[in-house]
Amino acid sequence: MLKIHDLYAGYGKSEVLQGVSLEVPEGKIVTLIGANGAGKTTTLKALCGQLKCRGSISFQGQETNGLAPHDIVDLGITMIPEGRQLFPFLSVKDNLLMGAYRKKARPVVAERLEEVLELFPRVRERLDQFAGSLSGGEQQMVAIARGMMACPKLLLFDEPSLGLSPLLVEQMFDVVRRVTEQGITVLLVEQNVFHTLRLADYGYVLENGSIVLSGTGEELLGNPHVRRAYLGH
Ligand SMILES: Nc1ncnc2c1ncn2[C@@H]1O[C@H](COP(=O)(O)OP(=O)(O)OP(=O)(O)O)[C@@H](O)[C@H]1O
Ligand SMILES: [Mg+2]
Repeated sequence: MLKIHDLYAGYGKSEVLQGVSLEVPEGKIVTLIGANGAGKTTTLKALCGQLKCRGSISFQGQETNGLAPHDIVDLGITMIPEGRQLFPFLSVKDNLLMGAYRKKARPVVAERLEEVLELFPRVRERLDQFAGSLSGGEQQMVAIARGMMACPKLLLFDEPSLGLSPLLVEQMFDVVRRVTEQGITVLLVEQNVFHTLRLADYGYVLENGSIVLSGTGEELLGNPHVRRAYLGH
C-alpha cells in the first residue's frame, strides 16, 4: 500500500533521513522503532508532506512526494501527531468534527461520528467537555478518534503511548489493534518497543536516519541487537 524508497530529508543543512526504504502492506500494522532523534517523526512528517524530501513515496501506486499535505490527506493518509495537538478550548465533539475535513469524509460525518464513538465509549461520555479538560489518556483517545474521522486508509501514529500509565498503554495498543479491524492500515512509531513488536506484523529499526534491521515483530523481539539496545536485556 505504501512504499518508501531511498528517502532523504532534513532541516536546513542537517540531513536526518539518509536513504530510508520501507513498505507497509495493506491491512497490516508496521512499526518503526528507534532511539530519540533517530528520525522517526521526521519520516512521518515527510510522508504527510510537511517536509521536503528526496526519494520516492508511493501510496497505492501513486507518487505522493511533492504533494501538498491536504492532497495527501485526501488520498487517505492521516497522521495522529505526537502530543495529541487537540484544540483545548473547543469541545471534544468539535475536535472530532475537525477531523472530518477530508473531502471523502464530509458527506458521511454524522454516520462516521457514530462509528468512531462505538470504539471510544469514554469519548462519547465527554463530547460536550472542553478537550483541554480531559485527562492525558482521554485526550490521546480523542486524538485517535479525530484521526479516524477522516475515514483514512492509512493511519500514522507518532508515539501514542507517550505519557500514559501502564494500564492506559495496554488500552491504547488495544485501540490500535481495533483500528486495523476496521480495515485501516497502520504505521506505528513507538518507544514502547516490547508492546509494539508484540502487536506489529512487521517492524523496522531506524538508527541515525537509516534502517539497520527489519523483520516480523517476533523476529525483532528475539533479535540480540534489538534486545540489547531497546529492551534492556
Ligand atoms: N524542526 C526541526 N529543525 C531542526 N532540526 C530538527 C527539527 N525537528 C527535528 N530535528 C532534528 O532531527 C533529528 C531527528 O528528529 P526526529 O524528531 O525525527 O526524531 P525521533 O526519532 O522522532 O525522536 P523522538 O523519539 O525523540 O521523538 C533530531 O536530531 C532533531 O534534533
Ligand atoms: Mg519523534
